[in-house]
Amino acid sequence: MFNRNHHTVLREQTPFQLVNGKVPLSLSPGFILPQDKRPLLSQVSKLATIPVINMEDEDGHGPSSSLVEKISQACEEYGFFQIINHGVPEELSERMMYAITEFFNLPPEERAELFTEDMTKPVRVSNYCLKVVESQLEKKTTMWSETFSHPWHPVDDFTHLLPRNPPQYREVTAEYAKEIGVLMKRLLSLISQGLGLEKDCIQKRLGESPRLVSQANYYPPCPDPELTLGLAVHTDLNALTILRQSQGLTGLQVIKDGQWVSVDPIPNAFVVNLGDQIQVLSNGRYKSVHHRAVTNKDLHRVSLAIFYGPNKDSIIGPIEDLIDEEHPPAYRKYRFAEFLEEFVKQEGRRRMVKEAFELRH
Ligand code: OGA
Ligand code: NI
Repeated sequence: MFNRNHHTVLREQTPFQLVNGKVPLSLSPGFILPQDKRPLLSQVSKLATIPVINMEDEDGHGPSSSLVEKISQACEEYGFFQIINHGVPEELSERMMYAITEFFNLPPEERAELFTEDMTKPVRVSNYCLKVVESQLEKKTTMWSETFSHPWHPVDDFTHLLPRNPPQYREVTAEYAKEIGVLMKRLLSLISQGLGLEKDCIQKRLGESPRLVSQANYYPPCPDPELTLGLAVHTDLNALTILRQSQGLTGLQVIKDGQWVSVDPIPNAFVVNLGDQIQVLSNGRYKSVHHRAVTNKDLHRVSLAIFYGPNKDSIIGPIEDLIDEEHPPAYRKYRFAEFLEEFVKQEGRRRMVKEAFELRH
């Protein structure tokens, strides 16, 4: 029933309308980026790509050393990779993506009930903005997208806060959260091993009751992708992200050696990327890399990012075993709540959050 492309081909008949936007959605000046912030799509690399890793690479006792090695290398060189044979049923991921698409297809008034500009609200529909100062005035450009985010852990504590529509939303999210939770732990364990640490080291550092938050992104077709962005350049603030994206449509791009590279969808794959907290915990060895989402002229694109972050009270800083004379601590220790405060303070402006915690030697 759930054709792989179901969510991408669904409903093109009515123009999309952002919850707080004017009707109909059009490329008005509020969406047009200042000249020097435009994506320059012709300069995106046609050749480079990020590594694809087969998670079934095991040797009978668990993950093979080559799997640990491949992930470690991807974390050092790219901060991004795609995984296949990851164990999450394709049918479930498709149902999840379909539910998300249906959510964004609800009437704008219904989505508007969840709309807020308050970043600290746990369940929210929002439009991201980019704020740049131009001749002493702050110019705000709205991103060509709408996002819907909420916490997922522990699932039972949050289910009642989630929308009742589409009717399957609560059930599918609970099911998906369980599966992604398992995969998340597996990845954290592989990443710990890659750093030469105990399997559960990073997960322990992130603490009990971690922040498992989701962000669904909806990118309507855009008349001129050269003038807009779906999501501005950023790094993810949590520890680890597992992202599902619409099949057959490109949009996500990451920086590699100073050049933009697009992360094209592979059937039933997830994109995995490291967030700022792993960069800090690994003392800078693993990278939280800048990325962005560009818009697309003809079809709407949907993505679903699941973030795993520390408990607010966890103390984050470079792991002691990774500090020595050659590698002095690159960051000071902080409570994760402090990092979140800095993040909210900078939102939409310069995203230099982890830099605020850097130690200079
Ligand atoms: C994000 C993100 C990229 C995408 O949600 O943090 O980077 O392709 N999304 O939607
Ligand atoms: Ni991101």
